[in-house]
Amino acid sequence: MFITFEGTEGAGKSTLIRAVGQALGIPKSRIIITREPGGSRVSESIRSVILNEQMDPWTELFLYEAARAEHMAKTVLPALKSGKTVLCDRFTDSTLAYQAHARGLPWAEVVKLNAAATRGIKPDFTVFMDVDPALGLRRAREHNRFEREGVKFQQKVRRGFLKSMRLDPDRWIRIKAFSGTPDEMAARILSAINKKIDGQGRKKHS
Ligand code: TMP
Repeated sequence: MFITFEGTEGAGKSTLIRAVGQALGIPKSRIIITREPGGSRVSESIRSVILNEQMDPWTELFLYEAARAEHMAKTVLPALKSGKTVLCDRFTDSTLAYQAHARGLPWAEVVKLNAAATRGIKPDFTVFMDVDPALGLRRAREHNRFEREGVKFQQKVRRGFLKSMRLDPDRWIRIKAFSGTPDEMAARILSAINKKIDGQGRKKHS
């Protein structure tokens, strides 16, 4: 299974991902937790350039996609091929929300570049950790340059995620950030995933 986690800043994604990893109840050696941008040596180097340098929005987009292509090749695809479950902190929906919806680059172009960088691989499920952008910014610990762009930018990002969700509702699980302990939220996410899997099974057999 390939599950991605999305949200605006300060939604508590990394803690939740670890809780979901444990709640899955499969051996640690069969799960990898990774992130974008990053998750492989070259992609982590690209991450530090993206987060620390000011640049043209198109340059930013290509760097995210370059980091993604390498992450897919070195980390995600080998793990999926060997039957592991991959939990990824941010993925293609972040590029749609940040670079397309919030920065204003053309949505259709970003869809194409996402497909090229991922070799057409899509997550089975995507968890959206929904947080009020103002609260999220107050909670975010390290302030990267996206966080410094302020609440209005984060509100646009949030609307970008909602747009992705409307376009492909079956893939998404929306959860209100901080609406329980990480373990409680992880349990709700797993039960939502199981319901979706059951529903898909029923659709196939009817
Ligand atoms: P993180 O703080 O959640 O690790 O993510 C790093 C930043 O990169 C975060 O501000 C969101 C941003 N980002 C994009 O703008 N586009 C992308 O495609 C990805 C993966 C992240």
